[in-house]
Amino acid sequence: MTGEALLEVEDLTVRLRTARGIRRAVDGVSFAIREGEILGVAGESGSGKTITALALLGLLPLGARTSGSVRFAGTDLLTLRRRELQKVRGAQVSLVSQDPMTSLHPLLRIEVQMTEHVRAHLGFSQEQARERALEMLAAVRIPDPEQALASHPHQFSGGMRQRIAIAMALACEPRLLIADEPTTALDVTVQAGILALLDRLRRERGVSVLFITHDLGVLSSVADRICVLYGGRVAEHGATSVVLGTPRHPYTDGLMRALPGAAVAGAAMTPIAGSPPSLDAMPAGCAFHPRCEWAVATCATRVPALRDVGDGRLLACDVDPLAPVPS
Ligand SMILES: Nc1ncnc2c1ncn2[C@@H]1O[C@H](COP(=O)(O)OP(=O)(O)OP(=O)(O)O)[C@@H](O)[C@H]1O
Ligand SMILES: [Mg+2]
Repeated sequence: MTGEALLEVEDLTVRLRTARGIRRAVDGVSFAIREGEILGVAGESGSGKTITALALLGLLPLGARTSGSVRFAGTDLLTLRRRELQKVRGAQVSLVSQDPMTSLHPLLRIEVQMTEHVRAHLGFSQEQARERALEMLAAVRIPDPEQALASHPHQFSGGMRQRIAIAMALACEPRLLIADEPTTALDVTVQAGILALLDRLRRERGVSVLFITHDLGVLSSVADRICVLYGGRVAEHGATSVVLGTPRHPYTDGLMRALPGAAVAGAAMTPIAGSPPSLDAMPAGCAFHPRCEWAVATCATRVPALRDVGDGRLLACDVDPLAPVPS
C-alpha cells in the first residue's frame, strides 16, 4: 500500500487472557484504508473483528497485549499515551460499537450527550454544538431532530438508537469511522438507509470507513475492498468485485454460498458445516481446515502464508485450485 493510506495496520496481533491462558485473538492482521474508502472486514462470530477494531483505538479489555503497528495519518496509535490517544479517538477516529447502548448513556438526554462530545473535542459553544447535533441527526434521517435532542435513548427503537450512535460518531467530523456491525440489528429498509448514508459521507466528506460485519451481502453494495478474517487471521483480501465475484478462499466461498439469495434458482443455500473455533480450541495449521471441503493433510499442520495471487488479491490457502502446488 502506498503512502496515501489514511490508516495502515501492519501485523496487528492481540493476545487475550482466557481461562486457559494467553491466546491470540488477532494474529498478524494487516490492511490499509485510503481517504474516502470503505473497507469491509468480514467473518463469522469470533473471527476477531471487534477485537481488531478495539485494538486500533486502545480500547481492549484489561490484560490484553497488542503488537504490530496502527499508523493513522502517519502516527502509530499503538505508541501514543492514553491522553494523546483520547484526543484522536472521538475527534479524528470514531467508533460505532456493536451495541449502540454502549455509546449512549441511558440516563442522559441525547442533547447532553451529543453536545458534550462536540464541545469537548472541537471547542464549540453550546449553541454551535447544538447546531452540529441537529445537522447530524438530520443527516442520519432522524425524523424530528429537535424532538430527538430532548429525548432519552430508551425512547427510541433499536434502529433509531443505532442511527443516533452514528450521528454522534460523525458529529466531530472524524476522518475515519469504525462501524462494528452497524446494521446487523436493523431491518432491511433502515439498513439500506445507513448504507446509503455511509456512501454519501465518503463521497461528500471523504470520510473513510472500516465496516465490520458477518454479512458479505451487506458489503457487496458498500465496500471498496474486503478483508475476510477467520480465527483472527486474514483469509482473503482484495477488491470487493474480485473477492465476492470469484472467491478463492474456501471460507469466503462458504460464506458466499451461505448467503440467502446467493444460491442458484432451485438450490438451497448451504451453511458452512461446523462452527468457528473458540480461542481455546484453535486448530493447528490452517484454522479453517476441520470445516474445509478442500483440505489436504498438510492443512492440519502448516499455517498457510498470505500470498499475493496476482489480481490485487491476498490469499491464505495452500489448496486454492488456481495456486501452484505447495512445495
Ligand atoms: N474479553 C475477552 N477475553 C477473552 N476472550 C475474548 C474477549 N473478548 C473476545 N474474546 C474472544 O476473542 C475472539 C474474537 O472475538 P471478537 O469479539 O473480536 O469476535 P467478532 O468477530 O467480533 O465476533 P461477533 O461477530 O460475534 O461480534 C473470540 O474467540 C472471543 O471469544
Ligand atoms: Mg464483534
